[in-house]
Amino acid sequence: MRVLSGIQPTGRFHWGNYFGAIRQYIALQSNEQAFYFIADLHALTTIHDAKMLRELSFDAALELLALGLDPNHAVLFRQSDVPEVSELTWLLMTMAPMGLLEKCHAYKDKISKGLPTDAGLFTYPVLMAADILLYDSDVVPVGVDQVQHIEVTRDLAQKFNHLYGEVFVLPAPRVLDETAKVLGPDGEKMSKSYGNTIELFEPEKKLRKKIMAIKTDSTPVEAPKDPEACSLFTLYKLFATPEQQMALAARYRAGGMGYGEAKQALFEIAGEHFAVARERREKLAADPATIEDILKAGAVRARQKGAEVLDRARTACGLRSRRL
Ligand code: TRP
Repeated sequence: MRVLSGIQPTGRFHWGNYFGAIRQYIALQSNEQAFYFIADLHALTTIHDAKMLRELSFDAALELLALGLDPNHAVLFRQSDVPEVSELTWLLMTMAPMGLLEKCHAYKDKISKGLPTDAGLFTYPVLMAADILLYDSDVVPVGVDQVQHIEVTRDLAQKFNHLYGEVFVLPAPRVLDETAKVLGPDGEKMSKSYGNTIELFEPEKKLRKKIMAIKTDSTPVEAPKDPEACSLFTLYKLFATPEQQMALAARYRAGGMGYGEAKQALFEIAGEHFAVARERREKLAADPATIEDILKAGAVRARQKGAEVLDRARTACGLRSRRL
């Protein structure tokens, strides 16, 4: 079974990205054939700074590898290194109803806020459909917000298959574990757009500062506290074993614990959790050529599959086979 997902390089990865998605992608690589790509073409709908896009794409690959994505198990590549995807986007575009795309939330949200939109944002779901269909993907792990796009993908695939014969595999979404949704220090969903993120590879000093600045209520030190109502504890739980969780919860309930102690505990456990990845990241960062090689090798493998599927689509709709 082929599992595929794309990750937009629109910012440094934070705890929300990791627990909500990346950790789950990495877990899938051992049992399934996994294709993961850095969605730099999609990122172009929001980033128009060449240097920034290059750096963010590179860092995304670097960090995925540091976190345990293994290029011997999963195929890791840059979306734009596979030109076939742009061509397939066009073929799908010719059968994407305007009304279907008008309903898609990224576009709709911008329109409803009166913000300017462009054709890239409007057709974003078609590129995403091409991403998925190009590799005969069976399963697409995504957050709930992306399920709508998988439905569009299925619609377009069905329409194409109906017109031209069985060309595309119909993919199914696999909604990522939502209990892994991470709340930021302010109790809102952790997200770059809310400015409440804690990045995975925050320098230690900055990490400490961010954790120490987490807002807590004004219960006095002596008083018992409710761990479940405290965002510090919620964050601690992400990293802790059940025993560790119980131990800290007991400290909360017993009274006599200041929030400073819980903050220190969170700082330490998060540091330990990412220690190995942090070390690997440093080593890899010193060797950018290796990252490039991994991405290029990934693109070669992705293109092999992509060229085959694109040719199927080309010939089905009346274009010349590229093999002839
Ligand atoms: N749109 C996705 C997101 O913002 C990223 C993405 C692009 C993607 N192409 C994809 C995800 C294909 C899954 C499959 O999260």
